[in-house]
Amino acid sequence: MDLGLKGRRALITGGSRGIGRAIVETLAAEGVNLALCARGEAGVQEAVAAARAHGVQAYGQALDVRDRDAMEAWFSTATQQLGGLDMVISNVSTRPTERGDAMWREALEADLLQHVRLAELAVPVLLTGQEPSLLFIASIASVMTQLPPAEVAYGPMKAALINYAGQLASRNGAAGLRVNAVSPGPVFFEGGEWDRMRVSKPALYAAVSKLPALGRLGTPEEVAKAVVFLSSPAASYITGSNVRMDGGTIKTANF
Ligand SMILES: NC(=O)c1ccc[n+]([C@@H]2O[C@H](COP(=O)([O-])OP(=O)(O)OC[C@H]3O[C@@H](n4cnc5c(N)ncnc54)[C@H](OP(=O)(O)O)[C@@H]3O)[C@@H](O)[C@H]2O)c1
Repeated sequence: MDLGLKGRRALITGGSRGIGRAIVETLAAEGVNLALCARGEAGVQEAVAAARAHGVQAYGQALDVRDRDAMEAWFSTATQQLGGLDMVISNVSTRPTERGDAMWREALEADLLQHVRLAELAVPVLLTGQEPSLLFIASIASVMTQLPPAEVAYGPMKAALINYAGQLASRNGAAGLRVNAVSPGPVFFEGGEWDRMRVSKPALYAAVSKLPALGRLGTPEEVAKAVVFLSSPAASYITGSNVRMDGGTIKTANF
């Protein structure tokens, strides 16, 4: 199947590691020119080089997506570098470091508001793009009520993000913009959240590893393939969806 992505233009937040990095490489392999960001400069440069190795234009900038001014400046630069935008993938999550009220405010900023700000910047530009798509990376934590204490605010923010994606889909569908969410289950990669859990909380890691019906954690590449398909013209009738990609971790019938 031809995804119809060659020469298209994408912006990805958090493209230096894990799911975001796999999305960058999968898009580049499909011939997509792209811009990415992350906080660490070295990771950004490495991901840009990996994308360019596929023969596409790739640009990167080190910034914190919670910094409104830095985001606005990067968005404007990236859009100019790419000559417009056809796809935006809002991928970043940042674990809170605070406790109590401060943790909830931090989670609101890290897992909801920065996505909303990016969408507000992106929608007008996407509406001038080709078969445009906006996609948010959510999580199955959005529907889980037995979350580890460190994720008490993360799940509710991801649930809000899915609702917001649906609202944007309703509002912008007639103008041709598709908006979707992808909710991964536990995804393992070296240096990622579950690699850290494997070492710091082996009992929790062992329990979580048994949850997926497929009997294993997912990979960033598996999530990236679905994200790239949903962002492509091949998914032209899919909007307002939340695609759960969890290897059968959540055991409900999805009516
Ligand atoms: N891994 C899982 O099991 C899993 C499961 C369900 C959902 N998800 C979701 O999938 C998405 C990606 O998670 P991941 O586990 O693949 O990767 P991750 O380890 O959370 O890193 C994500 C990327 O975002 C960047 N980043 C983090 N905070 C940032 C900030 N404030 N500003 C700019 N860039 C930032 C990181 O680079 P820097 O650190 O250099 O900034 C990295 O490139 C998140 O939305 C997460 O909630 C993950």
